[in-house]
Amino acid sequence: MKQQRPGVLLTRRLFPEVLQRLSAHFEVRDNPDDAVWTPAELIERLQGQWGVLATQGERIDATVLAACPQLRVVANMAVGFNNLDLEALARHGVQASNTPDVLTESTADFGMALLLATARRISEGEHYLRAGRWHKWSADLLLGAEVHHSTLGILGMGRIGQAIARRAAHGFAMQVLYHNRNPLDAATERACAARYVSKAELLRQADHLLLVLPYTSANHHTIAAAELAQMKPSATLVNLARGGIVDERALAHALRSGQLAAAGLDVFEGEPQVRPELLELPNVVLTPHIASSTRGTRLGMALLAADNLIAYHQRGQLLTPVKH
Ligand code: DGY
Repeated sequence: MKQQRPGVLLTRRLFPEVLQRLSAHFEVRDNPDDAVWTPAELIERLQGQWGVLATQGERIDATVLAACPQLRVVANMAVGFNNLDLEALARHGVQASNTPDVLTESTADFGMALLLATARRISEGEHYLRAGRWHKWSADLLLGAEVHHSTLGILGMGRIGQAIARRAAHGFAMQVLYHNRNPLDAATERACAARYVSKAELLRQADHLLLVLPYTSANHHTIAAAELAQMKPSATLVNLARGGIVDERALAHALRSGQLAAAGLDVFEGEPQVRPELLELPNVVLTPHIASSTRGTRLGMALLAADNLIAYHQRGQLLTPVKH
């Protein structure tokens, strides 16, 4: 008798290569319309499924797990895993993987791009030109902040932070300072030409502050009014991590009042909703959570998530289990 294959749910529309790879092992239920499901719709679709290939947009928490007792594995197509309730997963005996490494370099490229766009006022310049406001070359038109030879502060010095540090130090001759839960070992610090400092010193010294730390309940609003007040008024803030790390109301106030020069944001607390005050400010560059979005990288992330499901099915071991 033919054995029933386990079911796997894809919560979002993915690439044909991923469907093909998974279909060789599982009964796959996908989401060709790329619909965003409510928690109740997610639970409904997860009934009887053995595994799920989820994205950072779906919360897999105690309620979902209690309602889906057959679920054994969650392959998260993201390096971040703040959408997963790890304690509830452990309680229900559900394994979880994420997608480290495959997105490091393209995310670091984007970090530099967002930093440059923000400091050098590229979006503002484009809007100015498209609005028909450019009538003459002026010596003081849209003066930006220097990036080369400036001081870059990196909060969160994991793989992406290190890849940005290498670009900044070796490509842009920036002085790189960082703050992290733990300092890097001396050889890694040398390779990224980065120096460990306290969070307070990072805030004080950075000409540009880049946020690339994992989001947890402990660092919710770790950049709020008090931290923004310690930064240079000429500084730029770039958030590639998660929206909840920054108190956006305090950020909007700092940007409006001139306490901070500019911000580049790829992530938002209520995304895809963006706080209206931020939309109105000219000194903010806003992008829709696309730091890892190249075809090669997003395909690599999806295939790694798929391979985690296959490895767990075949050998009972994930390739890249969530480490926290
Ligand atoms: C990640 O990998 O955590 C990204 O934010 C998802 O695009």
